Amino acid sequence: MIDFYLNGRRQQCADASADTSVLELLRGALGRTGTKEGCASGDCGACTVAIGEPDASGELAYRSANACIVPAHQLDGCHLVTVEGLARGDALHPVQAAMVDCHASQCGFCTPGIVMSLFTLHQAQRRVPTPLTPARLEAALGGNLCRCTGYRPIRDAALRMSEYPDTQPSWADDPALAANVAALAHDASQRSPAPGHYAVPTTLDALRELRRQRPHARLVAGATDLWLEATQQLKPLTELIDLRRVAELQRIEETAEGWWVGAAVTYSRLEPLLAEHFSAFAHLMQRFASLQIRNRATLGGNIANASPIGDTPPVLLALGARLAIDGPAGPRELPVGDFFLDYKRTALNDGEFLRAIFLPRRSQLQHLKVWKIAKRREDDISTVLAAFAWRLEDGMLRDVHLAFGGMAAIPRRCAPAEAALEGQAPTPSVFADAKAALRDDFQPLSDVRGSSEYRLTVAANLLERLRLGLESTTAEVSLDAYAH
Ligand code: FES
Ligand code: FES
Repeated sequence: MIDFYLNGRRQQCADASADTSVLELLRGALGRTGTKEGCASGDCGACTVAIGEPDASGELAYRSANACIVPAHQLDGCHLVTVEGLARGDALHPVQAAMVDCHASQCGFCTPGIVMSLFTLHQAQRRVPTPLTPARLEAALGGNLCRCTGYRPIRDAALRMSEYPDTQPSWADDPALAANVAALAHDASQRSPAPGHYAVPTTLDALRELRRQRPHARLVAGATDLWLEATQQLKPLTELIDLRRVAELQRIEETAEGWWVGAAVTYSRLEPLLAEHFSAFAHLMQRFASLQIRNRATLGGNIANASPIGDTPPVLLALGARLAIDGPAGPRELPVGDFFLDYKRTALNDGEFLRAIFLPRRSQLQHLKVWKIAKRREDDISTVLAAFAWRLEDGMLRDVHLAFGGMAAIPRRCAPAEAALEGQAPTPSVFADAKAALRDDFQPLSDVRGSSEYRLTVAANLLERLRLGLESTTAEVSLDAYAH
């Protein structure tokens, strides 16, 4: 049973299979075809909807999401808002009115998704009015593609939407809506794991037990990667265990040494911590994926799926992160570097799961640089990702960690290049040795994103960039300086 609110009205769906997406539910059983399907892989934003969940104050906080890759069962205890739910009778929502007046829609196919992304931005603005900077606008719209009208009129609409009368959807009049949704969410969190094929444990014990009972069930959190198996490879996802309601996996705990981040914490929740303590990591988040994805995807998912081109594992390797693993044999910890064994193969034993990730507090002297090389600035997969951490002590490089994604079957550090730099002054000849060591250590694949030689050259160039940054007193010039 999926028990939720859709545009202010309660919906109960009893017979959705485990691998039904929100988009399939909307366009199929619910007959709401305003939400469109473009890519079915979280890349185009045509299917964007807003999902409202109660926040700490009991109010509903709306976040954009790609309906094509959100499991329908994750709507349990939420308020789903679609493009059909914005107008108030014949009166358009300010976002819709601005889109019309700015001629920001041609094909109409991408438009509902763009409207929904702007709706969540508008809602956020109503809660906490903040200047609409170009960076903020691009963050809100980075996951929405438009190929015909172009982005300028869409941007104009975004900039003008706050000038319109604040006409709110009809459902916003219901003073009990937030409390009703919260009550459903509470019910959902109290339910014992359903015997069906989409189980939602709420405690670590229940999760351990489910892993024991259903060893073949797949774990799902944000679903932003797993769901592509259903939509792109047409593989059935028949048995799923959802991690999102296990409280222990949702915590961020601060200790004297650093932070334990629950494996099911989304990037959107993690971003404030990263912005305060790991600015280079936070900057990567702007290019990690679209906002729709960051609102659902989890740090644990990016590690556990063991992709060689996952963006965060190289950063975690550079920082010396640790992982907490749990399972039938009890909890254990291991350095993140021991987790990736081979292509898509990890150190998780049968029945085990990733519980949390430890981000060690950086000393004042530790530096961190993260560079993502991809074909597009937003919403793209890395060709090469480099994360470098080091200290400078009396002009010598110490504790050098050089980690890469996209260079091997697993994300990994380059020990020979680190050894070439360790304890040395950052001179051109020392870095030349490190670059030669790097070229010897990696034999990257060639694929659609880049040839093997391209990857080797880029990785070596990033080392050179590190050296130039160490010797230069002028500010680093980044792509962002040209992109606005
Ligand atoms: Fe393209 Fe969902 S249909 S992101
Ligand atoms: Fe739809 Fe541009 S208006 S692709």
